Amino acid sequence: MSQKVTVLDVQRAKEEGRKLVMVTAYDYPFGLLSDQAGVDIVLVGDSLGMVVMGLNGTVEVTMEDMIHHIRAVVRGCKRPMVVGDMPFMSYNTSIRDAIINAGRLMKEGGCDVVKLEGGVDFAPTIQAIVKAGIPVMGHIGLTPQTASALGGFRMQGRDAAAAKQIIDDAIALQRAGVFSIILEAVPAPLGKLVAESVKVPVIGIGAGVDVDGQVLVTHDMIGLFDKFVPKFVKQYLQIRTIILEAMEAYKKDVQQGTFPEPEHSFKMPKETLSKLKKRMTEPT
Ligand code: KIV
Repeated sequence: MSQKVTVLDVQRAKEEGRKLVMVTAYDYPFGLLSDQAGVDIVLVGDSLGMVVMGLNGTVEVTMEDMIHHIRAVVRGCKRPMVVGDMPFMSYNTSIRDAIINAGRLMKEGGCDVVKLEGGVDFAPTIQAIVKAGIPVMGHIGLTPQTASALGGFRMQGRDAAAAKQIIDDAIALQRAGVFSIILEAVPAPLGKLVAESVKVPVIGIGAGVDVDGQVLVTHDMIGLFDKFVPKFVKQYLQIRTIILEAMEAYKKDVQQGTFPEPEHSFKMPKETLSKLKKRMTEPT
């Protein structure tokens, strides 16, 4: 399919038993690569703060950061749905702020839908954004923006009560009108139960295989981010090593004077060169 992936396509995927493929991107080249690879959904995540901006977490990421990066990704993504992540405190202060900021991500960034973190407590906010005409993807389980309140970047739903709360969160989000839900860092059997408890697709990241699709942070998956590798990441490539080797080879070439070679240099006709040299000897 070469047409834009819509909310209806995403919902239909679950009904038809088709797994959704989602990755993150933060710039035009990775937006384009995601499109060419045929992924369904591209998330401009606030993981931007960690994997691109070098911050320790996602809390410092601003609306301006998000809009800037969403604009670049959107230019590369013809087919995939582009999800704009709402940064910390852009939807937590009031429902009015949440609607205004969700609208800004779409109007100024150009994304197709927005995502925000939180369970039952955020159902009224989600309902209001959806009512304003903006499709919302939920995000429950481990919610990185409030990781410190959750005891760090660790698996969620560890006991029966906590696991039941995550199922209740998913149901509350569905009632509030989300079209899909990201479920992060929970035991695989809980992932399956959450997916079975709601009609909307549940896209897992560290939630096992029995959910309706998977998302990974691209910089983790290709081995570009090296600070830590979460347990749920499969590294398909070690691109850091490849880039590092290329840069070292370039450095050596420059230092030894073996780059640029004639094929990388612009030519000047002999006649022009001799005229130039002659002019250089003339008094100005
Ligand atoms: O910001 C992000 O990249 C995310 C993913 C971890 C789902 O929210």
